[in-house]
Amino acid sequence: MSRPQHFGWFLARGFGPHGWGHPYLDWGYDWTSPALYQDAIRTLEQAGFDLLIIEDAPSLGSAETIDLRVRQAFGGPKLDPLLLAPYLFAATERIGIVPTVNPAATLPYTAARQFATLQHLSGHRLGLNVVTDTGSARHFSTTPQLGHDAAYDRAEEWMSAVRALWRSWPDGALIADPAAGRYADGTRLEPTIHRGEYYAFDGPLNAIPFTDGEPVIVSPGGSPRGLGFAGANSDVQLALAPMTEDSVRGYRSRIHDAAVAAGRLAEDITILFAIQPIVVSSAEEADRIVAASLEPDEATLRRIAERQSSDLETDLTTLDLDRPLDRGIFGDHVSHGSIRRLVGDHDDDAPLRRILAAHARLGRLSDGSGWVGTADELADRIEEYGAWGNDGVLLWGDLHPVTVHRTLDELVPILRRRGILRREYEPTLRANLRPF
Ligand SMILES: Cc1cc2nc3c(=O)[nH]c(=O)nc-3n(C[C@H](O)[C@H](O)[C@H](O)COP(=O)(O)O)c2cc1C
Repeated sequence: MSRPQHFGWFLARGFGPHGWGHPYLDWGYDWTSPALYQDAIRTLEQAGFDLLIIEDAPSLGSAETIDLRVRQAFGGPKLDPLLLAPYLFAATERIGIVPTVNPAATLPYTAARQFATLQHLSGHRLGLNVVTDTGSARHFSTTPQLGHDAAYDRAEEWMSAVRALWRSWPDGALIADPAAGRYADGTRLEPTIHRGEYYAFDGPLNAIPFTDGEPVIVSPGGSPRGLGFAGANSDVQLALAPMTEDSVRGYRSRIHDAAVAAGRLAEDITILFAIQPIVVSSAEEADRIVAASLEPDEATLRRIAERQSSDLETDLTTLDLDRPLDRGIFGDHVSHGSIRRLVGDHDDDAPLRRILAAHARLGRLSDGSGWVGTADELADRIEEYGAWGNDGVLLWGDLHPVTVHRTLDELVPILRRRGILRREYEPTLRANLRPF
C-alpha cells in the first residue's frame, strides 16, 4: 500500500462565470445559482476529498483597467464565496468548505461572529483561506493601501483578534442545563479588549464556543513573510512550486521551520501542493494534445493574451504579435515577478507571438515535462509525491461537474486501490486533516 494523502479542489477563478466561453459549459447551469456548485461538490465528497477552496478577490482591480478584467471574465465579476458556503454545506455532510477571506474587508468582530455561525451550522466543516491582497484597499477606506509585509502584519493581528473572540467563552461559561435553570454564566466571559495597530474593539463575542475545534486556517502566500504567517497561524498551507523532489522537500522544510520558529510542531501544518492536470483517456491522446500545443493557432494565442492582459492589468491584445514586446508598457502597478512569469527565458527581441506560444505549450505527466496524461500516470506522480513525504495535493480548475468528472472518474478508483485516497471521513474538517 502507498502512503495516504489529503486531497483538495481549488475553484481557481472564484465564485464567478468561471470557464466562460468554454463550449462544454453549456449544460444549462447558471453560475449564479447554487445547483452548479452543489452538483460538483457532491462528486468531490463522494470521491473522498478533504476540502474545497474557493478563490476570491473583492475588487475588479484598478479603475483604469477594469475592462481588461471583465472582458473575458478572467478577473471578475465575482460574488462572495462566504455566502455561497451555506448552500454547499447544505448539499453535503462531510467535506470541508473553505471560502477566501481578506482581513482588509471585514472587521475582526464581524468576521469572528460570521465564521462562528458557519462553523456551527456546518457541523465544524468550515475553513478560511486568509489572503493579504492589498489592491482592493480603496473599496474599504480612503487610507493608502498597505505594503506587502504590512498587510501580513495586519492579517496576523486580525487572526489573533478573531481567535481571542472565539475564545472569549472559556470552559464553564456555557452551561445549558435545563435542570439547573441556567443557560450561561456571563461572569466567566473574557472581556477581550483589543487595542492594536490596525484594529481596536471590545469583546466578548456574541456566539457560543465550539464543541469540536475552531475553523481551519488556510494560507497561500509563498514569500518569506507569507511562510512566516503560515508557520504561526495556518493549519493548511497551499504551495505553488515546481514538483521535483528537491523543490517539494525544500518547500516543506521551509514551512516546517516556520512552524517550529513560531513554537508549533511541523506536523501541525498540512501542505497541499497545487497542480493542474489534464487527464485524458490514453497515452496516444496525451501525445497528440502535447504535439498540437507546440503549434498554437491564432485563437489560442488570443485567449492567452486576454488572460495575461487581465492578470497583468495591461492590454496585450492590441499589440503586433510579430514585434518584440516593449517592456515599457507595464505600469508600476504590475509586479516584476508577474512580468518575469510572462516573459520567461525569452530575450528582449523575442516576438510577442513566441512569448505567448510558450504559455500554450503542454508537457507529459509520464516524463515529468507537464500535466497531460492518463489517470494511471497522474496516480503514479501523486504516489511519488507521497514517497517524498508530501501531505497532499490541491487540484486546480473550475468547479463544473464536467471538469470534476473528467479529472476524477478514472483517477479516484485508482487512488483508492493504491490506498492513497481516503475511503472514510472523520466527523470534522480538522479531524480529517490530521496526519494519516
Ligand atoms: C493555491 C493558491 C491560492 C491562492 N488564492 C488566492 C485567493 O483566493 N485570493 C488572493 O487574493 N490571492 C490568492 N493567492 C495569492 C496569494 O494570496 C499571494 O498573494 C501570493 O501567493 C503571493 O504571496 P507572497 O507574496 O507571500 O508570496 C493564492 C495563491 C496560491 C498559490
